[in-house]
Amino acid sequence: MQSCDSLSSQIETLLEVSRLSSGPPSVERKEVDLALLTREIVAPLAEPASEAGCLIEVRADHPVIGDWDLVRVRQIVTNLITNAAAHACCAPIEVSVEEFGDGAVLTVRDGGPGIAPADQARIFDRFVQLAPERLHHRGFGLGLWIVRQNAAALGGKVTVDSAPGAGATFRVELPRL
Ligand SMILES: Nc1ncnc2c1ncn2[C@@H]1O[C@H](COP(=O)(O)OP(=O)(O)O)[C@@H](O)[C@H]1O
Ligand SMILES: [Mg+2]
Repeated sequence: MQSCDSLSSQIETLLEVSRLSSGPPSVERKEVDLALLTREIVAPLAEPASEAGCLIEVRADHPVIGDWDLVRVRQIVTNLITNAAAHACCAPIEVSVEEFGDGAVLTVRDGGPGIAPADQARIFDRFVQLAPERLHHRGFGLGLWIVRQNAAALGGKVTVDSAPGAGATFRVELPRL
């Protein structure tokens, strides 16, 4: 059953890459509470992650209201959490959503192996995978490219703050526009 879920999520990734490759995705903005939406997206991921030894803590207690696209936000959050669980397994994962400037900032922080400064820009490119010895998960090196395309489609950006051995914090700024 788990391998069916994993196969269907891989197919979903490839379909999404094929859609995003043909140009910026359509964006359907709708008023949402980004904090609540993030909690809803994380909830079904928390149980399988905790079975694999990763605790996910969400700090998104205050409403952050704005017009965002549910599908784009879901892809951003899901890919960042999947990465934290796959590449930084067994260290707790912290997700937060806060007001930032005239918009919001969403962060996913892990206490895993981190990413060397020289690699921090290129991990957002298509098909880039580092540390193949850690790649027991079946990724394609596409998740962060999908995150970057989705953040850009919403007028925002994704950055990473990390050092080898000191975990990684992915930060997504999402303006209200
Ligand atoms: N949270 C993380 N901690 C350490 N390395 C990471 C993390 N997230 C991504 N990476 C690195 O960035 C690479 C690209 O990530 P991604 O595009 O999602 O591809 P994939 O997860 O399929 O390998 C990964 O192969 C991994 O080396
Ligand atoms: Mg990935």
